Amino acid sequence: MARSRMSRLILCILGLALSCLSVNGRPATFSQDFRIAWADSHIRQLDGGRAIQLTLDQSSGCGFASKYQYLFGRVSMKIKLVPGDSAGTVTAFYMISDTANVRDELDFEFLGNRSGQPYTVQTNVYSHGKGDREQRINLWFDPSQDFHTYSIFWNHWHIVFSVDEVPIRVFKNNERRGLPYPKFQPMGVYSTLWEADDWATRGGLEKINWSKAPFYAYYKDFDIEGCQVPGPASCASSPNNWWEGAAYRQLTPEAARRYRWVRTNHMIYDYCTDRSRFSVVPPECLAGI
Ligand SMILES: *[C@@H]1O[C@H](CO)[C@@H](O)[C@H](O)[C@H]1NC(C)=O
Ligand SMILES: *[C@@H]1O[C@H](CO)[C@@H](O)[C@H](O)[C@H]1NC(C)=O
Repeated sequence: MARSRMSRLILCILGLALSCLSVNGRPATFSQDFRIAWADSHIRQLDGGRAIQLTLDQSSGCGFASKYQYLFGRVSMKIKLVPGDSAGTVTAFYMISDTANVRDELDFEFLGNRSGQPYTVQTNVYSHGKGDREQRINLWFDPSQDFHTYSIFWNHWHIVFSVDEVPIRVFKNNERRGLPYPKFQPMGVYSTLWEADDWATRGGLEKINWSKAPFYAYYKDFDIEGCQVPGPASCASSPNNWWEGAAYRQLTPEAARRYRWVRTNHMIYDYCTDRSRFSVVPPECLAGI
């Protein structure tokens, strides 16, 4: 179903009370759109299912997944990350198609740190099985003190990762230059909290301090607007979806200004400029990312 504003309006006009309720009720509760995918003993619903708590301890991490897959649209949630000494923990929020070696995948990974040191946000984009496109930024606030909004926006023109509406990464559709763009495969929405102290913090030098466990991350305000799969096949190509609108085909001047600010002041790693990894500049980097 396209949860476009127009379809909401139409549903409401038709007087489908239930649809109006759930539509106006966005953001949704956890169980409307998601299910527990890993270690249900480690996920607790709070506030009548409007929020959840994820736990990582020495026995397990945990994760959840959307009930449906989506093609295009916008997914956002508010997350409050593990506070204090979170080194070696990774909280991830991502979309992925379940098509093994030709998968499309859009990743946010929040890499914990020693107390008082900044969290790192790593993003990556896989298109048709090709990844290795890591970028890293340090956040301009402490993401464990409060909830902040993390979103993935995806239409035919570009993919935009945002933090509190500030774009931190843009992956353009460069199909015209022969570069594959995620477009045909629906993706599910996932989140996990797990241990990755072999690589996450200072390249694996900083280990998890288990005496600080359990570690908790919190989520709320789940919002998915997109073409649900299974669902009407015509949805993804419909020009009436709000996310395909003229205003969403490139960053607004204000968003572009903020994006430049992030890249200038907060970017700490960009695969595009990593000559030790890629002696030949990846083509999408030349095309303007
Ligand atoms: C942790 O803090 C150090 C020192 O400020 C910084 O270099 C590093 O990028 C931070 N993030 C991770 C994941 O190590
Ligand atoms: C781990 O946490 C304990 C308890 O807070 C502390 O005493 C110890 O120094 C910490 N270890 C490291 C390696 O930070």
